[in-house]
Amino acid sequence: MYRLKRFEVNARHHLPIFFIGVLAGFLLFVNSAELYAEPFKLGPKKCQECHKAEAKVWSGTKHATSFKKIHKSKKAKKIVKAVGGKRMKKTALCASCHYTVAKKSASAKPKLVAGPSCESCHGAASEWISIHNKKAPKANKIEAASAKGMIWPSQLFDVAANCNSCHGLTKENLTGDNIKAMLDAGHPMNADFELVQYSQGSVRHRFYPPKVTENQAMTPAEMARMFVVGQAANLVSASAAVSKSSHAGYKAAQQKKIATATKLLESVAGQVPAAGKVVASPTADNGRALAAAIADKDLSGVVGENLPKKFK
Ligand code: HEC
Ligand code: HEC
Ligand code: HEC
Ligand code: HEC
Repeated sequence: MYRLKRFEVNARHHLPIFFIGVLAGFLLFVNSAELYAEPFKLGPKKCQECHKAEAKVWSGTKHATSFKKIHKSKKAKKIVKAVGGKRMKKTALCASCHYTVAKKSASAKPKLVAGPSCESCHGAASEWISIHNKKAPKANKIEAASAKGMIWPSQLFDVAANCNSCHGLTKENLTGDNIKAMLDAGHPMNADFELVQYSQGSVRHRFYPPKVTENQAMTPAEMARMFVVGQAANLVSASAAVSKSSHAGYKAAQQKKIATATKLLESVAGQVPAAGKVVASPTADNGRALAAAIADKDLSGVVGENLPKKFK
């Protein structure tokens, strides 16, 4: 009480200084809030305002259609229970892979708006949306937007690593215990996720340059590059994850991914030494270096027969 009174007296005597202090504090707060702003998702409706063709493709994918269905299945209910949750849509762990949790503004209430959507693959957009579509040289824009959390389609290693965080069950919030509980309750563990097969079927949206209205298929050279980068991302992801859980099925799936990717990358290493480096040391930086090393190469002769014939 006494302290409060003294403060009041002081404040009155030093009113101007007091206000300057508050103002400075406020500005500092705003500034650091801007610097350290945690990116959040805006939801696919926001992207759809400008990217109509991409949104139409997405709405036909399992990512989109799963939203109305998956939580109702018996299997889902059993898996939720196994991790100590009640409802899939209310369980943060499930939401981190199965849903898009979006907000209208930084202070708004988060809402479950869709299944995995645009920002699940391209990065939460609150901080990059106003940068990525500006008229500016592309290289500068890619650098500025990715510093704010955007994953540009051309940053193919990072795109693939991000698919793996969900499809390889390697997200950071997943503990060894959760993995075991989920898999024992029937959650799938997919050892066969491969980027070309999974991205060039129902998921494919390739309308660039922007005036093109046709959803273009990849050339064999593009597909071969994506295949190699996808295998590098599988190797990096599975090598880091293999000791994450002692669950036998989980370990076996990660080991299968490691074996498949190693074989493929070794077959390319004669022509592209950067592929051998990823095998010797499976890090994200080595994966990105491989992607850069093959950016202009046609490897379809080398990996051609490994390319998938059917797409998901
Ligand atoms: C106001 C219009 C607008 C909105 C809203 C918008 N974009 Fe864009 N976006 C653009 C334009 C214009 C470009 C082309 C920029 C270029 O090519 O330099 C672009 C480019 C992109 C690219 C890169 C394409 C490439 O060159 O490879 C991606 C990915 C993308 N947008 C995703 C999104 C996502 C995800 C959202 C929603 C969070 C979104 N955009 C919202 C206008 C918009
Ligand atoms: C790390 C990401 C991740 C987390 C966390 C996760 N899932 Fe999944 N889940 C997936 C992926 C990816 C698939 C699709 C697997 C495939 O088809 O390859 C999937 C598939 C499923 C399926 C479909 C199974 C089928 O046979 O069709 C159910 C049900 C499911 N998950 C429930 C849950 C529940 C409930 C939780 C929370 C306890 C959860 N998942 C947490 C990534 C995740
Ligand atoms: C499953 C992951 C995934 C989802 C979901 C996704 N994208 Fe993409 N997007 C990609 C990949 C991968 C590429 C580039 C690969 C390629 O060339 O096929 C890409 C390319 C793009 C491009 C550049 C190519 C083009 O069509 O102009 C734009 C723009 C884009 N996405 C916007 C969106 C928007 C908007 C949404 C939501 C409506 C969306 N994406 C949903 C993975 C995704
Ligand atoms: C945020 C997590 C997440 C990310 C990132 C993600 N996915 Fe998925 N994906 C899922 C889940 C969950 C399912 C299963 C939905 C269901 O079964 O209802 C799924 C299903 C799919 C399916 C349908 C598979 C089938 O057997 O029908 C394809 C294809 C797919 N994803 C491709 C991709 C590709 C390619 C990428 C990266 C470019 C990607 N996904 C990134 C979570 C994700």
